[in-house]
Amino acid sequence: MSAPNKPSSTASAEEPALRPHTYDGISEYDARLPNWWLFTLYGAVAFSIVYWMFYHTTGMGLKDEQVLAQKMEAVAEARLASSMGSLTDAQLWEMSRDPKFVTAGKTVFATNCVACHLASLKGKEENPAAVGPSLVDNVWIHGAKPTDLRRTVTNGVIEKGMPTWAPLLGDRKVVEVVAYVLSFHKEPASP
Ligand code: HEC
Repeated sequence: MSAPNKPSSTASAEEPALRPHTYDGISEYDARLPNWWLFTLYGAVAFSIVYWMFYHTTGMGLKDEQVLAQKMEAVAEARLASSMGSLTDAQLWEMSRDPKFVTAGKTVFATNCVACHLASLKGKEENPAAVGPSLVDNVWIHGAKPTDLRRTVTNGVIEKGMPTWAPLLGDRKVVEVVAYVLSFHKEPASP
């Protein structure tokens, strides 16, 4: 009758050896770590390398601050878009001090306005042959308030040769170019 012994002898063959030391009565098997455990470890190591490369070395992944900055920007954009129709003088003055709008407006001006108002914005004042008046003196034919400027640029003054810009540029660019023109002026101290 050797059969009953067989299972126990197989089990003892697979039983890992005990390591020689004992601490506080606790001894340790000399067993190989299970594969699932090893693969978890290797996987974590590999993942950490890829993660490190992606976010910290190559800059391919955006850091939290960058994601936050993008979201804040998007919120500001959405706010601007929704208040575009009703921007106040104060808001337009504020935009005229914001390099983001002024730089964008400068590009719009360079492409669309220099032909008549000149790159110096001085128009007729600099060169009597220019079509447009100066936009940097303090003489305004159509009102000096930022909202007046915006209205003039939006609607134009067709009979005098100032084109209607709204359909060509859209609201956003009109506001940017107004911010650029305003950046050459000072907001009057509020009374
Ligand atoms: C084809 C020539 C021409 C172009 C291009 C042009 N303007 Fe003018 N602009 C004029 C003329 C002419 C006037 C003067 C209108 C008047 O005498 O009533 C004027 C007037 C203005 C005024 C009002 C000035 C005031 O004293 O009230 C503003 C602001 C202005 N332009 C901005 C712009 C901007 C911004 C652009 C580009 C997007 C632009 N203009 C492009 C010809 C032009």
